[in-house]
Amino acid sequence: MMPLYAKKATAPLAGTLTPPGDKSISHRALIFGGLADGETVVEGLLVSADTTATRNAMVQLGASVTDEGDVLRIRGLGQAGLSAPSAPLDMGNSGTAMRLLAGVLAAQSFDSVLTGDASLNSRPMRRIMTPLAQMGANVEATEAGTAPLHIHGNPALKGIHYDSPVASAQIKSCVLLAGLFAQGESRVTEPRLSRDHTERMLPLFGVRMGEGAALQGPQGLTGAKVLVPSDPSSAAFLVAVASLVPGSDVTLRNVGLNPTRSAFFDAVKAMGGRIDIETVNDGSDGLEPVGDLRVRYNGRLKGIDLPPEWVPAMIDEIPILMALAATAQGRTRVTDAAELRVKESDRLAVMARGLECMGIELSERPDGVDVFGGEPCPARVEAENDHRCAMSFAVLGQLIEEGVLIDGADYIDTSYPGFSADMLSIGAQLERRDG
Ligand code: S3P
Repeated sequence: MMPLYAKKATAPLAGTLTPPGDKSISHRALIFGGLADGETVVEGLLVSADTTATRNAMVQLGASVTDEGDVLRIRGLGQAGLSAPSAPLDMGNSGTAMRLLAGVLAAQSFDSVLTGDASLNSRPMRRIMTPLAQMGANVEATEAGTAPLHIHGNPALKGIHYDSPVASAQIKSCVLLAGLFAQGESRVTEPRLSRDHTERMLPLFGVRMGEGAALQGPQGLTGAKVLVPSDPSSAAFLVAVASLVPGSDVTLRNVGLNPTRSAFFDAVKAMGGRIDIETVNDGSDGLEPVGDLRVRYNGRLKGIDLPPEWVPAMIDEIPILMALAATAQGRTRVTDAAELRVKESDRLAVMARGLECMGIELSERPDGVDVFGGEPCPARVEAENDHRCAMSFAVLGQLIEEGVLIDGADYIDTSYPGFSADMLSIGAQLERRDG
């Protein structure tokens, strides 16, 4: 595809929109619905390349999934109902799809293969193989510990208490999903709380959870109704662009505000941005907290030292934070973010290279970066097929008169297929252009 070209917005950005459904919650709705007895109804599901990979996998495993307008219906298979897939399950670019499904497949009475694209097949899988092996699972990877994963199903798994060395919802969810099929308690602790969508959503499907990330197996699921809020990680790009372009006033509806996901909004406020939140659901019902966000330009942002304890709750927003930091006054320091190096790309490196091409001074460390805000200049940058890096550069382009040309921007569809349309609808300047 042609590179994406983003250039200076000619007027303040304005409008009201509803960003797409939450990717993490959508994957879980598809997987849990496929495992449940009876029908699951999902409203607001994200339809993107990543979630389509999960949907296709559940269908290959025997679930029936149908669309009815904006509503998705899943006819689940029940605890013992999955059937052996006749071909490898292709998870595309999605680490969540692969790691969560590995937990389910490890406990089946059949073998299966999980594979993905070049990026996914180079990401670390030992982080899930280690706890799964402790549960009695048999999962083979390449010598480098990467996919394709050959999973030799074992329906006699045992529950474990796993003290994860990394704060990762994918690891936690993988163990809990395997734990649904295992004998005894499965419990995961982690250095800092990662997103807790699995813990919040399993009870909707009738699963009795222990304290924190714990459950007693085996337990079956029953069909449920899932309302998927807008993805705060997608909303983040719109929050950022409205905070950068002078005079902007943009409202984002129905945004997920789960505290394990919302630290980016706190970071923007700490940098001097203005976000007013109107609560739609405060989460006291155990469901996902949701609110409407009104974002107004509030002058040039200031650099901050990002508190390391905020990182897990904005793990996918560090690229866009780096883009904001590139124009902020002073230094922004990110620490304790080594996980960024094993996402869809090495995000610290990809963002650092791109910002340096735009003339921004920065210094990279193994676990973070210092960005010295300045005036980004026109450049051609490489997003290395990382959706979030591509969108971050496109946001920054809104401040650059002669624009920024972004190569490797074809993967935006993995999480936010309507990104260009939404950006254009509030007045941003974005187009596909011949290199
Ligand atoms: C996700 C967890 C995070 C995040 C990813 C989605 C999830 O990964 O980066 O985009 O849905 O569980 P880690 O759990 O590996 O940090």
